[in-house]
Amino acid sequence: MTSPAFITTPIYYVNDRPHIGHAYTSTICDVWARASRLVGRDVFFLTGTDEHGSKVEKSATARGILPQALADENAAEFQRVLATFGLTNDDFIRTTQSRHIDQVQEFLRRLMATGDVYLGTFEGWYDEGQEEYHTENKARELNYQSAISGKALIRATEQNYYFRLSAFADRLAKHFADHPTFVRPTERANEMLGRMREGLQDVPITRTNFSWGIAMPDAPGHVVYVWIDALLNYITALGLGMPQAGGLGSPQAKRAKYWPADYHVVGKEILWFHAVIWPALLMALKLPLPKCVYAHSFWIADGKKMSKTLGNFVDLPTIERYTATYGLDAWRWYMSTQGPLGTTDADFNGKHFHETYTNDLVNTVGNCPSRVGAMIGKYFGGKLPADAQAGGEWPSRCDAATAKWEQCMEVFDLSGAARCAMDLLRQVDVMINDTEPFKLAKDPANTPRLSSILNQCAQTVRIAGVMLEPFLPQRMEELAKAFGGMPGKDINWSARKKYGAISDGHAIEKVALFPRVDATAISQAV
Ligand code: MSP
Repeated sequence: MTSPAFITTPIYYVNDRPHIGHAYTSTICDVWARASRLVGRDVFFLTGTDEHGSKVEKSATARGILPQALADENAAEFQRVLATFGLTNDDFIRTTQSRHIDQVQEFLRRLMATGDVYLGTFEGWYDEGQEEYHTENKARELNYQSAISGKALIRATEQNYYFRLSAFADRLAKHFADHPTFVRPTERANEMLGRMREGLQDVPITRTNFSWGIAMPDAPGHVVYVWIDALLNYITALGLGMPQAGGLGSPQAKRAKYWPADYHVVGKEILWFHAVIWPALLMALKLPLPKCVYAHSFWIADGKKMSKTLGNFVDLPTIERYTATYGLDAWRWYMSTQGPLGTTDADFNGKHFHETYTNDLVNTVGNCPSRVGAMIGKYFGGKLPADAQAGGEWPSRCDAATAKWEQCMEVFDLSGAARCAMDLLRQVDVMINDTEPFKLAKDPANTPRLSSILNQCAQTVRIAGVMLEPFLPQRMEELAKAFGGMPGKDINWSARKKYGAISDGHAIEKVALFPRVDATAISQAV
């Protein structure tokens, strides 16, 4: 499995501070990127910032600074946060970079040439906050108010350039039918299909009422609609709109292999742009479509929609309190195993976080290796005893677990993948409880049996640890060191997942991976 893999987060608006929404999407993409690298794929993980549009212009004006200064400040903050979270993105694209701007203009020239973009007059219901037009039906359904801010929609008229979305209805429907996993979860694909059946209207893709955007080529006064500008980041980052002058081996040619994306991971509220407008744009540009657009749901907090006014917003300082109290790995674990990957929103609450940490990480991922390491220390001087039974059932159990883990990762079932490792560790715990090595150790006649049991435990723990690396990179590095040494960089997946890789007599250290945390610690943290 050496195929290139490409995963993207949405690019984040710079008029917001980083919060759980950003941290969530970025973290789950990071887990997938790490897992794909682990199995040997050549991964490109992209994130970045969406810096144009009237909202940014307005926020900057309100602060008396230039939009670019606001964008610079917040893009730097997003980058700082990515670094402190240890995210392994391969690039960070900013839509104000010339590499992006030049290619967006190039793509628009191509769309003008194909006739998929034309000049026309538009009138519609406009949500100023979201920078989004609604159809009459939708506007009525919303009671002519923004679903997000509650502010009245305004009736707006503009001479604009349009993207001929209406011409793509049949091709889009066919694509959805031919690729049942193009949009996931399935319920979300059905929502998109339902909306498409109501009819597709052409989309205005330029604006004339503000200037903070990419200039539409050959159309003075027109700037490119921020969503069109933003969606194109997925291919400008790969250089698909660059003249191929660099030839083979140039950076753009090197990155072209990553297209089409394996996953565009997005929140449900921006799915329409990714599942309908984006594929139509790609069809118009004669480029392949992404393999999957995965729409997750939302984190809510303490049973309520998060809001700054309610004070239950999981903002960066809150996240940092959690990472300081429980560790970064614990945060990643909660995000990727308890998050809203399906169609229901997930509730973020401190008690649930604490319970998840204690049950999964302290009592299982931490405790099982610690017991095994302690017993090997006590009964065999810290050296792995031999297993005369050659693993018994464990090699096939481990193979089944890693195979299932691979399948789960492929389909972005992160909690399913995590479970594969957890189940193995729980089975190790069961074996320890059933066979009671501490009793066996009392009689030297049992030494061969005791050796086999502890060897099997250690071999299995190592493999579970490998499967947990994408989720818990810091602690699993310690586990790998303690159980068989850290593998060299070139060791491949088939070797890493192979049962029995720790040789007899190898040092096994006792590890304390996840300390117990006092249940009240988080409320006391400042
Ligand atoms: N700039 C656009 C995306 C353009 S992509 C071509 C945008 N930016 S955003 O900053 O608002 O998006 C943030 C991401 O965070 C979205 O995927 C959104 O769904 C996600 N979240 C924002 N709040 C969230 C929660 N409360 N829970 C989970 N994710 C949510 O949209």
